[in-house]
Amino acid sequence: MKDWNLQSWRSKPIVQQPIYKDQKLLKSVEDTLRSYPPLIFAQEVRSLKKKLAKASRGEAFLLQGGDCAESFAEFNADNIRDFFKLFLQMSVVLTFAGGKPIVKVGRIAGQFAKPRSSDFEEIDGVKLPSYRGDIINSIEFSKEAREPDPYRMLRAYNQSAATQNLIRAFARGGFADLHKVNSWNLGFTAQSSANERYKEMTSKITQALEFMEACGINAKNTPNMNQTVLYSSHEALLLNYEEALTRRDSLSGDWYDCSAHMLWIGDRTRQLDHAHVEFLRGVKNPIGVKAGPSMDEEELLKLCDSLNPENEEGRLNIIVRMGATKVTKELPKLIRAVKKEGKNVLWSCDPMHANTLKTEDGFKTRPFDSILLEVKNFFDIHKAEGTYAGGIHLEMTGKDVTECIGGAQAIKEENLSSRYHTHCDPRLNANQALELAFLIADTLKQ
Ligand code: PEP
Ligand code: CO
Repeated sequence: MKDWNLQSWRSKPIVQQPIYKDQKLLKSVEDTLRSYPPLIFAQEVRSLKKKLAKASRGEAFLLQGGDCAESFAEFNADNIRDFFKLFLQMSVVLTFAGGKPIVKVGRIAGQFAKPRSSDFEEIDGVKLPSYRGDIINSIEFSKEAREPDPYRMLRAYNQSAATQNLIRAFARGGFADLHKVNSWNLGFTAQSSANERYKEMTSKITQALEFMEACGINAKNTPNMNQTVLYSSHEALLLNYEEALTRRDSLSGDWYDCSAHMLWIGDRTRQLDHAHVEFLRGVKNPIGVKAGPSMDEEELLKLCDSLNPENEEGRLNIIVRMGATKVTKELPKLIRAVKKEGKNVLWSCDPMHANTLKTEDGFKTRPFDSILLEVKNFFDIHKAEGTYAGGIHLEMTGKDVTECIGGAQAIKEENLSSRYHTHCDPRLNANQALELAFLIADTLKQ
C-alpha cells in the first residue's frame, strides 16, 4: 500500500473526534491497547471477505445489524443472548423463506463511537459537549460526564472482548443448532403475524431435518447444522482505538484492524482526503462506506479507487442510506457509474439513517413504513438496473423496545416513552425486525 503507514491518518484533516485534554494519558492508554490481544483473527476476516464476495454476486445475502450505539449500562448476558436469538431467527427466515445463504455481521463488540450532527448540546440554557458514545464520554448531562476520557477505550475493549467471547460460545456451543429453531423465539413476539409465520416455518424446518437425518445428513458430517458464525463490525470512527488494535498478520504480512472483522466509514467522515479513508485504505478487512444523498458518482468512483485499488471482490460494501423516496432519484446514477467502470462492490441498504424524525415530545423515531419503503425501493432499483441488492444494514435489538413507530404492534408516537432505551438512534424491536426479515425473504425469493 503506497505511502501508507499505521500513523499516516494523523497528518490528514479529521472530523467528529474528541479533544482529549490529557495527551500523555491518551498515549499511555494507546500503548496499553497496543499490548492487548487482537479481538479477531486475520483468517476469519479472509473467510468473511469470500462470503461478502458471494453476496456481491447475488449468491448470498448480507445481514448486518445491531445497536446504534452499544453502551456500558446495557452490557449483560441477557441482552447479548436475545440479540443473538433475533439474529438467528432473521437468518433462518432469510435462508428458508428467501433461499439464500446469509452472511451474518453484527453491529456489536465494538460499536461505541458516534458521529454527532452538532458538537454541543444545549438544555435549559446550559451548553455542553455532545455525547459521542461510551468509548469517549458519558451520556449524562454534566460537565464532568461529557469530558472525553481515554480510559473509556480500555473499558470498551474489555466489553468487546467479553461480548465476542459469548457470541463465539453461542455460535459454536450448540445454541445455533437448527434443531433448536423453536427455542430462538423471544417470548414477547407471541401475538404478531410474523410470529405465526415463524412458527409455521419452524415446523417445516423440523420436518426437513428429520428427513435429512433419515438420509444420513447430520451435524456430524454437516457442521453447519449445529453451528454458525456471527462476525463483528462497527464504525471505525475513533482512530486512536483502531490504530492501536491494528496488527500485521504473521501469515500474509498484511495489516488487519483486529478490533472487528468488518469496519465501516460513516456518512460524515468519508471525505476522500481525510483521515478515515486514509486509515482504512491500508487495512485488509472488508470495508463499508455509508452513502447518503449527497454522494455523487465521481466521489464514489474515487472512493472505490482509494479503498479498493485492486478491485477485489468482497472488499468494499456501499451502504446506501438515502431515505425512502430520495433513494429512487439518487441511487440509479451511482449504480450505473459503478457498473460502467467495472468496479466490484457489494450494495447494501441501510433504511434507518435517512428516515429519522423527531416527535413533538422530542423523541427521535423512525416510521416502520418508511423503512419498508426504502428497502422495497432499493430492491426495485437493483432489479431495474440488473444489479444485486446484496444486503441489509439495520439498527435493531432483541428487546421489546418502543423506539420506531408502526409495525404489527402499531407503536404510536404516544407509546414511545414506554420503553425507549437507545443510547443514540431508534432501533427496530424484535417484532419489527422479524417482520422486516419476512418481507425481505419474500422479495429475495422473487
Ligand atoms: C450509524 O450507522 O449509526 C451512523 C451514524 O450512520 P451514518 O454514518 O450513515 O449517519
Ligand atoms: Co445510528
